Amino acid sequence: MEIQVVQGNIAEIESDCIVINHFEGMTTLSAITASVDEALGGAISRLIASGDFMGKAESSALLYTDGKLPAPRVLIVGLGKAQEYTLHKVRRASALVAKKLAKMDGVKTYATIVQGAGIAGLDVRQASQATAEGTLLAIYQPPQYKRVQKQIGLERCTVVEANPQTLTDVAAGIEQGEKIAREVHTTRTLVSEPPNVLYPVALATRARQMAEEVGLKSTVLGEAAMRELGMNILLAVSQGSANEAQFIILEHTPPGHEEEQPLVLAGKGITFDTGGISLKPGAEMWRMKNDMGGAAAVIGAMEAIARLNLPRRVIGVAACVENMPDGLAFRPADILTGMTGKTTEIISTDAEGRLVLADSLAYVARFNPSAVVDLATLTGAVGVALGKVRAGLFANNPALQEALMGASERSGEKLWPLPMDDEYMESIKSDMAEVKNSGGSGGGVSSSAKFLEHFTEGYAWAHLDIANMVWSDVEKGAETPKGATGFGVRLLVELASAI
Ligand code: BES
Ligand code: MN
Ligand code: ZN
Repeated sequence: MEIQVVQGNIAEIESDCIVINHFEGMTTLSAITASVDEALGGAISRLIASGDFMGKAESSALLYTDGKLPAPRVLIVGLGKAQEYTLHKVRRASALVAKKLAKMDGVKTYATIVQGAGIAGLDVRQASQATAEGTLLAIYQPPQYKRVQKQIGLERCTVVEANPQTLTDVAAGIEQGEKIAREVHTTRTLVSEPPNVLYPVALATRARQMAEEVGLKSTVLGEAAMRELGMNILLAVSQGSANEAQFIILEHTPPGHEEEQPLVLAGKGITFDTGGISLKPGAEMWRMKNDMGGAAAVIGAMEAIARLNLPRRVIGVAACVENMPDGLAFRPADILTGMTGKTTEIISTDAEGRLVLADSLAYVARFNPSAVVDLATLTGAVGVALGKVRAGLFANNPALQEALMGASERSGEKLWPLPMDDEYMESIKSDMAEVKNSGGSGGGVSSSAKFLEHFTEGYAWAHLDIANMVWSDVEKGAETPKGATGFGVRLLVELASAI
């Protein structure tokens, strides 16, 4: 579906449906709603008086115009109380509209205003961005391997702005939101793809194609190149797989920023995690196709950063490996030496994410980064602690932590700080190597972060454990349908815009 922006009066727009709003508890109608009400001979006033539609958040009512307006339908959406209205609610309301209209066979085109921004005093540009995001995020379709495919019938959404002075802000916000939402879709698709389709080389190929399209510099290291560099901890995880590991590097360097210290984003890209020789139980193993959610978020965010042409040097890396059991697979009790000579003893081959990140964190030191943020579906334990509401945040630098929390609040992709006290290091001390890759039960999220910290190289660093966030079996609000959520893209774009 395309989104276009026009200046005019929504009541006069020809489309299959026009979308207007009402705030809960308001005794008068907003100017636009009032003009539509008048054209409909008071139908909206009567609807509200009947008690059937009160303007509650996430409610809506459909009216037919019977030739009184150019559009045959009016959808009135409830926005909740004006004083509680936020950008997140703009996104949610726009998503509900798109989701609802997508289900109506007779609706191919609709027109909407940026709902409620004026009355609630929201920034027009930001509210427009949230409108485009919500609209597109709601109608995401995962790849379908079916002979008969479901199609979304919506073809066009026209955003109508009455005020010629704010038109450019609306258009800019819509364009920004559209770019971000399309990249969230990229990430969702990568996470959704089955592991036989999206093995490491396939993931690298998609990243490379995307990079070419948007003008990112891309480099992909294969196993020979990684062996040369001594990335033996990462390579050990790949040993049991017939699929070659790939290390993807995407660079966004706007003209004039060549000498700038980059922000580095690093993603865990386990295209399938069987657990290796420390094999996972079978029943839920299929979920481990989403164990590359960190890499997918980094790739989607890099695409968005390039398309938005952010004036900042940003480098994204993704360690793409398949974790399989096999006669060649690495074992519990193996001791591995990584790129910088740091060593680790393997306790569980299922704690593989921290292993591929260990060499990633060593590799990125060469960029002299201003900060490194890694994203990884690292532990089941983070979901025990935080549910599916906030990802876990660990940082060795208060300013970076604050920047991430700010980006989290603004993007609506929520984080929460978790501890990294030195005591957590005790559980991963190894008799034979510097650290072991699993500390046993208790404090498993924090000890996994301490493991990663051991492999950092003195730069400002943060680790986001997103294992609980990349996938949802149920819809998490209309803008996040069930399945792959695309978590991290909006957060990282916001971070890269702010630091
Ligand atoms: N990919 C998993 C973590 C995971 C679990 C992600 C559930 C999403 C849902 C990771 O590689 C893993 O297996 N972690 C182990 C670590 C343990 C062996 C120290 C875990 O959390 O059980
Ligand atoms: Mn694992
Ligand atoms: Zn894993």
